[in-house]
Amino acid sequence: MTTSRAPRADAGGTASATPRPAVLLVDDVEANLVALEAVLSGLDCELVRAQSGNEALRQLLRREFAVMLLDVQMPGMDGYEVARHAHGNPSTRNVPILFLTATNDSHHNVTRGYDSGAVDFLFKPVDSTAVRSKVRIFLELYVARRQITDSKQALEQAYETLQATQAQLVQSAKMASLGELVAGIAHEINNPLAFALSHLDTVLRCVVPIEAASDLLLSDGARPHWSKMKSRLGEMHLGLNRIRDLVVKLRTFSRVDGDERGVANVKECVDSVLTILGNRLRDRIEVECEFGEPATIECFPGLLNQAIMNLVANSTDAIEGEGRIRVTGRAVEDRYVLIVADSGAGIPAELRQRIFEPFFTTKSVGHGTGLGLSITYSIVTKHGGTIRVDCPPEGGTTMTMTLPLVAPGS
Ligand SMILES: Nc1ncnc2c1ncn2[C@@H]1O[C@H](COP(=O)(O)OP(=O)(O)O)[C@@H](O)[C@H]1O
Ligand SMILES: [Mg+2]
Repeated sequence: MTTSRAPRADAGGTASATPRPAVLLVDDVEANLVALEAVLSGLDCELVRAQSGNEALRQLLRREFAVMLLDVQMPGMDGYEVARHAHGNPSTRNVPILFLTATNDSHHNVTRGYDSGAVDFLFKPVDSTAVRSKVRIFLELYVARRQITDSKQALEQAYETLQATQAQLVQSAKMASLGELVAGIAHEINNPLAFALSHLDTVLRCVVPIEAASDLLLSDGARPHWSKMKSRLGEMHLGLNRIRDLVVKLRTFSRVDGDERGVANVKECVDSVLTILGNRLRDRIEVECEFGEPATIECFPGLLNQAIMNLVANSTDAIEGEGRIRVTGRAVEDRYVLIVADSGAGIPAELRQRIFEPFFTTKSVGHGTGLGLSITYSIVTKHGGTIRVDCPPEGGTTMTMTLPLVAPGS
C-alpha cells in the first residue's frame, strides 16, 4: 500500500460556498405537494419532493435539509416510521420534523409524533401563513447553525496550522543551533588538527633519513622500540586523517546557511548524516549507499541535510537489533529520486496516512516528538518535490523523496 501526498496547491484552503438550504416535502398525494410548494414559493430555499416514506429517507441521505414537512398518513411506511428511521441514523438525526396531520388525530398520535422526533405539528388543512413562518424560522436557524459550524471549522483549522507552524519553528531553530554548534566545534578542531597533521608529515619525512643513517648503529635492544615507534606514527597518521574526514562531514552537515540555496553533493550530505548518526548505527545496522548521476543538485543544502537526517534517524529507530538501511539516489528524467529503505518494523497500513502530521508519533515520551517527518515533508514541499512511503510485503519501510534537479525560485 502506498500513501503519497502531493504538496498542497493552496495553503489556506478554499472555503466551500454555502449551498442554499433545502426543505423536504413528504406527502403521498401529489396535490398536497403542489399546494405546499405554492405556499412556500419565494422563500430562499430549495424545495425537494418525496411521495413516499422510502423516497423521503433516500432524499435525507442524499443531502442536508433545514426542515422536513412530513405527512403522517401515507400508505406503506407512515410518517411516524419515517421519523423513527430518520432519528435512528446519526447523519439524519438532526433534521427537524414538522408533522402534517389531520385535525381529528387523537392526542395519543400527537404524543407518538413527538416521541418519534417531531418538533411541531401542523393540522390539515394547513394555514399557509403558519407554514410559511415556521419554515422560515427553520431556514434561519439552519443558516445560523451552518455559519457557526463554518467559523468553528475555520478557527480549528487556523489553530492547527498555527500549532504546527510554531512546532516547526521551534524544531528548525533547534536544528539551526545544532548546526551552529557543530560548525563551531568543527572549526575549533580544524586548526589544531591541521598543524598536528602537518607536523606529523614532517616527522614521518624526517624518520626516513634518520633510519637510513642509523640502521646499523641501533643496538638490538633499541631496534624493537624503533619499529614500534614507526608503526605508532603510522597509526597516528590514520587516526588524524579519520578526524579530518569527520570534521569535513560535520561541516557539510552543519551548513548554517539552512535556508540558502546552493549546490549540494547528495552523497556528501548522506555521508555527513551517517557520521552524525554514527553511534546509533554502529555495528548493529549495515548501511549500504549507491549514488548515480548527477552527483549534485541545486537546492537548499542545509534543509536537505535535515530532511535526510530525519529519514535515516527514523529507520534507525525502526530497527530493533540488527538490520539494514539502504540509501540510493539518482536522477530519473528531470527529478532526483532519493530512497531510504530499511529492514525495520514497517508501518501499519492504518497509520501510514498520519505519519506526516505534526506531533504524530508512536514513540514514547522523550524518544519521539512526531515532528521529524512533518519537517521533512515541508522541506520537500519547499523544494517543489514529493515524498511517499511504501511498506513492501517483505517488510521494512521505504521512503521515496523526489526533488527537482533545480529547486524552484527561493
Ligand atoms: N522508517 C520507519 N519505520 C517505521 N516507522 C516509521 C518510520 N518512519 C516513521 N515512522 C513512524 O512515523 C512516526 C512519525 O515519525 P516522525 O515524524 O519522524 O516522528 P518521531 O520519529 O519523533 O516519532 C514514528 O513515530 C513512527 O511510528
Ligand atoms: Mg523521527
